[in-house]
Amino acid sequence: MAILDGKLVAEKIQEDVRLEVEQLKVGKGVVPGLAVIMAGDDPASRSYVSSKNRLAEKLGIRSELIKFPATATTDEIARVIDEKNGDPLTHAILVQMPLPQPIDPWQVIDRIDPGKDVDAFHPANQGLILQNRGIIFPCTPLGVLRILDHYGIETAGMNAVVVGRSFLVGKPLAAMLTNRHATVTLCHSRTQGLPAILREAGLVVAAVGKPGFVTVDMVKPGAVLIDVGINHIDKEPDFEKFCPRSLHDTFKKKGSVITGDIHYQAFAKAAHYTPVPGGVGPLTVTMLMHNTVDLCKRSISVTNDKK
Ligand code: GUN
Repeated sequence: MAILDGKLVAEKIQEDVRLEVEQLKVGKGVVPGLAVIMAGDDPASRSYVSSKNRLAEKLGIRSELIKFPATATTDEIARVIDEKNGDPLTHAILVQMPLPQPIDPWQVIDRIDPGKDVDAFHPANQGLILQNRGIIFPCTPLGVLRILDHYGIETAGMNAVVVGRSFLVGKPLAAMLTNRHATVTLCHSRTQGLPAILREAGLVVAAVGKPGFVTVDMVKPGAVLIDVGINHIDKEPDFEKFCPRSLHDTFKKKGSVITGDIHYQAFAKAAHYTPVPGGVGPLTVTMLMHNTVDLCKRSISVTNDKK
């Protein structure tokens, strides 16, 4: 069982992105610009948004945070999107999900210029992915593929099972793995006989947001396990259920730990697995920076990217 070190892969990509930003500045006099729009005060969203801004700054990307109260309306968010769609200094627009109710996320997503849609959430971009002619790809699924690529894990012909059908991760990843010639089963909360389906999988991607959801009995020996889950464990009984004893001192000291959707006991059976933290997480924010630079390059038609 070998660890797939997402932090290492992320650092390599960040260095490439930093160099590209520098080349754009020096060669074209352009600074890639990212606008992050957030409504409400969800602690997890706040922490994601601040890590995005920190990394943007580190890589030389201009990032702007536009904050709305939880009482913001769909129209107010749409107006700021219109403004950023027309702003030549903004190459990429991100609206942090989930949006507080009753804001309509689909109206918001539809409003983003597909050429500035850094998350690839717009139906035009998701449609292109489905047709295997994607231009921009959602950050977490793209990060998953980058980890597999870095470690030379070939998905062609593989039985891949994706658990979770969100438009952020599961659905686009299922399409992207299909485009790479995997045989993909997309499972979700209504799937019948999930353990038996998982036991046939050479590649498992878990993106359900439930700690320890994929258990050791569901995993085929030698499988590749990719854990997209980020679950905060802050209660002792949950810790006992989902976390190894080796983390107990950290749990006691910090009052919480993060764990994924795959139970830690399953990793012993895997050929390769992504840990939580330090697996897919670092890639998500890194691919956001990659996408920002990609959109910037596309906007000035200098792209010669391989993706
Ligand atoms: N919320 C959780 N993950 C994401 C993401 O990748 N992009 C956006 N915009 N919101 C999220």
